[in-house]
Amino acid sequence: IDGSLPTFTCAETEKNLLEAAGIIRDTSETVAFPTETVYGLGGSALNDESVKNIYKAKNRPSDNPLITHISSLSQLNRVIYSDISDDCKPLSHVPEIYHPLVEKLWPGPLTILLSIPDGSNRNTLSKLTTANQPTFACRIPANPIARALIALSDTPIAAPSANASTRPSPTTAEHVFHDLNGRIPLILDGGKCSVGVESTVVDGLVTPPMLLRPGGFTYENILNIGGPLWKECLVETKVNIKDDEKVKTPGMKYRHYSPKAKVILLVPEGDSQIISSERLGRLKSLVDKEIIQQGAKKVAFLNSLHLNKHFIDGKCIHESLGTTGKEIQANLFALLRKVDEEDNVDLIVVEGTEANEEGLAIMNRLRKAASNNIINF
Ligand code: TXA
Ligand code: MG
Repeated sequence: IDGSLPTFTCAETEKNLLEAAGIIRDTSETVAFPTETVYGLGGSALNDESVKNIYKAKNRPSDNPLITHISSLSQLNRVIYSDISDDCKPLSHVPEIYHPLVEKLWPGPLTILLSIPDGSNRNTLSKLTTANQPTFACRIPANPIARALIALSDTPIAAPSANASTRPSPTTAEHVFHDLNGRIPLILDGGKCSVGVESTVVDGLVTPPMLLRPGGFTYENILNIGGPLWKECLVETKVNIKDDEKVKTPGMKYRHYSPKAKVILLVPEGDSQIISSERLGRLKSLVDKEIIQQGAKKVAFLNSLHLNKHFIDGKCIHESLGTTGKEIQANLFALLRKVDEEDNVDLIVVEGTEANEEGLAIMNRLRKAASNNIINF
């Protein structure tokens, strides 16, 4: 976990990283950077002004707390908990329930809730980072550019996804540029994100523990790797929540992952391995009816496992999300953006998947993108 930093053989990469690290460390500006999940919009998690600038650039409601990204457990202990004692161990400030998860899944797309260090400490987290929650969310990303940026700035970095609020998360530097051009000083381009959906957020501080947001690691991963205490782990299932409703993870109540175009989600129910022609015919007529009702002029269809790419005939943009959960995750946001921003369709019909393994995170994002415009089949 405390492994050494990668060495960058490219002088340009090193120069850009040092410039970005300088912005994080010495100013209250923000920097977009790649992680293995999605691009983040980072600023110092210790500085109110930096965090305000993050919320402002994204146009994000400030009651939705941010994840604090660290490069190592020693940084967590030294900078966040101000613990430089000789007997401080790497996991001294991480409750035992998290140890199996953190030992196996960090660095990586896992975010855990930790208790906020008490205010007498010098380097305390900004209250704006945690949006007045009693806890803070923390992760060590696996992407070497992200970790180098955090380590070089020697600053825990608060970072939400680097999209404009309500839009699909960015998985390329171009997506960030599309949403935030002119609003932030710098984007580090690290190519396409390998995972494609955000980190899995878990809360081990409650009994039983909870999965607050499905993400890059599956619920099954958490159950299998977490040890006995995670066997009872509950899943926060609410997808659409009213504005004034109290929720454990405030991010859940906002419109999210929404393209400009309307999204209709097709959800397979029951046995989707064998889909009879009768079932397919029924679905086809429901979809056709919906397209007419919406008055859609340009339609895109994103298929996944069971429906043929040309399921919607006539003039329609067809894209395949992939045939495995990992592929679908990696392509999901990029394809929603492609048909919305490049093809300018006014209706996107998406084939969903079963809500297990990677499908849980995929369907969580798609249900929000579709804000309940769903056709079961
Ligand atoms: O993969 C990721 O997690 C990406 C990359 C950039 O690391 N970040 C990301 O951040 O997705 P964001 O802000 O878009 O989502 C953070 C989620 C939100 O749902 C928020 O409500 C929840 O984590 N969260 C943050 N702090 C929390 C806390 N103290 N208690 C409960 N939920 C929290
Ligand atoms: Mg986000």
